[in-house]
Amino acid sequence: MLLDQLGRPLRDLRISVTDRCNLRCTYCMPAEVFGSDYAFLPRSEVLSFEEIERLSRAFVSLGVRKLRITGGEPTLRRDLPELIGRLTAIPGVEDVALTTNGLLLPRLSRDLAAAGLRRVTVSLDSLDPEVFGRMNGLGVSPEKVLDGIDAALQAGMRVKLNTVVQRGVNDAGLREFWLALRDRAVVRFIEFMDVGNHNGWNLDSVVPSREVLARLSADGQGTEFRPLDPAHPGEVAARYTDGAGHEVGMISSVTAPFCGDCTRARVSAVGVLYTCLFSGAGTDLRAPLRAGATDDDLRTLLTRVWSGRRDRYSEERGEATRARPKVEMSHIGG
Ligand code: GTP
Ligand code: 5AD
Ligand code: SF4
Ligand code: SF4
Repeated sequence: MLLDQLGRPLRDLRISVTDRCNLRCTYCMPAEVFGSDYAFLPRSEVLSFEEIERLSRAFVSLGVRKLRITGGEPTLRRDLPELIGRLTAIPGVEDVALTTNGLLLPRLSRDLAAAGLRRVTVSLDSLDPEVFGRMNGLGVSPEKVLDGIDAALQAGMRVKLNTVVQRGVNDAGLREFWLALRDRAVVRFIEFMDVGNHNGWNLDSVVPSREVLARLSADGQGTEFRPLDPAHPGEVAARYTDGAGHEVGMISSVTAPFCGDCTRARVSAVGVLYTCLFSGAGTDLRAPLRAGATDDDLRTLLTRVWSGRRDRYSEERGEATRARPKVEMSHIGG
């Protein structure tokens, strides 16, 4: 089995299919930086579906079992259902998922489900129109995201919800948020992370997961959350149940890093391989792909990169790591 320097196998591949987005979340693509004159990638630089499928097959031959499509906003990529169809058809792939802001799901859910997509993860940070509008940078209403969630459910897909919690921004009413959504989706609260170079992160703006859980429990009825076993090895979210059939997830990269069993590789829209969400640099896979590399050549390259991997950024996080340049969230999709 292919293992990295810390003994971790390669199991998951996160593939970004575009650097564009139809929102401007302040913590990811702030409008001041990603404005109307921002130079997004031209089409020729972005991997084609053929190239993505070829790379995915090479990764699967080295142990990858789970594929996740990200962006930017992946539903902006034209003909996305076609790509989903190609990826779900690869022998050995056990799970294909999509992380999306949900806005285009009313239009796309049926085709995505028909192409073999069984689940989506939708990002939604608040149900308060003013708070959400401010956080997404464009004043878009939470109702639009809820419509997307409902469309996905109607198409028969399972839905998880990602909520990035920032102190003083959207941390009021977390319990009400969970109550309103827990019957539709598995809600996961995410500690705000220092990804990219533009999101103004500081430790004070992080609400530790244990505090979120305490707030969810504070209902005057003594609701107690009991930990659940991970749904799969290396799962990012710690799962809890309220004992009444509702699951909630906590993603605690800041207060409880999970690098120890991190089995994730990431490929950006231009085909650069990153071995950590916080990497400063990666390995170009597009050049060899376009220069006629054979499948064996690709496997040799991937093996070399993964077997040299030592990344454990979240465990090392501190003053010294803060200044390191990092890949942008919009290039590797979280
Ligand atoms: P499933 O468990 O398959 O449902 O998905 P996931 O939680 O791995 O993926 P998702 O895209 O929903 O990511 C949830 C949050 O976890 C996002 O904020 C990601 O940026 C973060 N995340 C995912 N993988 C990693 C990782 O390897 N390291 C860190 N630090 N954060 C991660
Ligand atoms: N910290 C934590 N999560 C983030 N995401 C984007 N930026 C950050 C950040 N700074 C989340 C998005 C999406 C997922 C892929 O990553 O909200 O749900
Ligand atoms: Fe777009 Fe998602 Fe980034 Fe928000 S977090 S700007 S929806 S890619
Ligand atoms: Fe994996 Fe890097 Fe995240 Fe740690 S910080 S879990 S090594 S991606």
